[in-house]
Amino acid sequence: MGGQSAVTWNPYTPGYFNDPYAHLRECRDTNPVQKGVHGSWTLFNHQDCFDLLRSPTARVSELSNYFREKEPAIFRNGGCPYLSRGTSKWAMYLNGNEHREVRKVMVKAFKQFDLPVILAEAVEAVNQLFSGENEFDLVDYCANFIYQVIRRLYSLPAHYSFEEIKEYSNMIARSQDLFVPRQVYQVINDWFLKGNELFRDLPVTSDPSGYKAQLSSLGHEIGVDYSEEDILSIMSVSVMAAFETSKDSLSMALLEILSDPSKIEEILGAGPTLISTCVEELFRYTAPLQYTIRVTAEPVLVGNSLIAENSKVFLCLASSNRDPLVFENPDELILSRNPNNHLAFGAGNHVCAGTYIARQEMRFCLQPIVDFLKGYVVADRSQVKYAKQIMMRTIESAWLKKRVYA
Ligand code: HEM
Repeated sequence: MGGQSAVTWNPYTPGYFNDPYAHLRECRDTNPVQKGVHGSWTLFNHQDCFDLLRSPTARVSELSNYFREKEPAIFRNGGCPYLSRGTSKWAMYLNGNEHREVRKVMVKAFKQFDLPVILAEAVEAVNQLFSGENEFDLVDYCANFIYQVIRRLYSLPAHYSFEEIKEYSNMIARSQDLFVPRQVYQVINDWFLKGNELFRDLPVTSDPSGYKAQLSSLGHEIGVDYSEEDILSIMSVSVMAAFETSKDSLSMALLEILSDPSKIEEILGAGPTLISTCVEELFRYTAPLQYTIRVTAEPVLVGNSLIAENSKVFLCLASSNRDPLVFENPDELILSRNPNNHLAFGAGNHVCAGTYIARQEMRFCLQPIVDFLKGYVVADRSQVKYAKQIMMRTIESAWLKKRVYA
């Protein structure tokens, strides 16, 4: 520890939301296994996080139960009936058989997507939308691209507007953040209900191969009859998980690439193998989902600390991805880095169910996107705004302006 005193994790450390990595480095260097004020543990080393992610006995925490317990406290007048039901079939908060079933159905339904066609159409649509603009917000561009993908993945009708889906996804993602104010929960609840209206109306019968219809029929195939409400819960997590993380990862990746002309060249000159390598490094570096949570089913010794049974443990994926014991020069974006054992998608039986989609999006679309955006520069990096979110790192805005060639 080099004489430095132990640093306690605190997301309200000045500058954390703009750049969490300096604080995370201090935590990892001085206090890699620590117990916080609410009795939860946080792990910062790659190996410790990896071990717990892969542990056959660790469970995930149950969000819908948490909301059920918390609702009366948050909404004293019974104003929020939907938070717990909306999250009841979210794979990342289910254990055992129920988790295996939901995951099987979701992943099988993802497989029917014609990804190359969807991605080619999406990238063409977004580049057309922004062509001719002198300046625009990079986050808007990324969100629009992912919206174009999602519309096609989930057969959302054209009148489900970009703004609606973007806001919906962001509010649903916020349901999982820490320290959410009571009023925000109310807004989140309203968005859950609004999402239900949108997804309830999806034209199942006119599109029997569509995602929503597949969820019902695949559930039936494995002997589970999902109710309409279960299907809406799975739809909400699918849309949110596909939208938020991909948009955040892409916008943070592009911010780095567009700030450095040599990286633009490297991406545009890469063949298919090198592009896959670049993409993994971008996932490592951006790690949009900065933490995931596990609950210990038995006592676990981590370093010198004995973590008791039934403890909630935050696994800092962002810090693991910058662990110098695993990654040389971890704070540098080295596009040719290989091997790259990052944890941006987690690991173990809850590893991201959309990994294939997220990877294909980047492998297929990064070059056409960078080719289009190479005509722009980041207007002022000091003005880039980050959301005050802890679990999910999100850029709120990053303006681009037309590049002036000498
Ligand atoms: C860059 C993009 C993405 C990143 C970085 C990401 C990251 C993650 C992470 C870290 C987890 C938690 C893993 C764990 O706790 O072990 C997760 C879970 C999940 N992700 Fe993703 N994700 C991305 C894109 C997607 C997409 C495109 C989809 C769907 C189309 C998706 C669907 C899911 C689902 C359903 C889970 C829960 C899996 C389970 O608990 O079994 N993700 N993701």
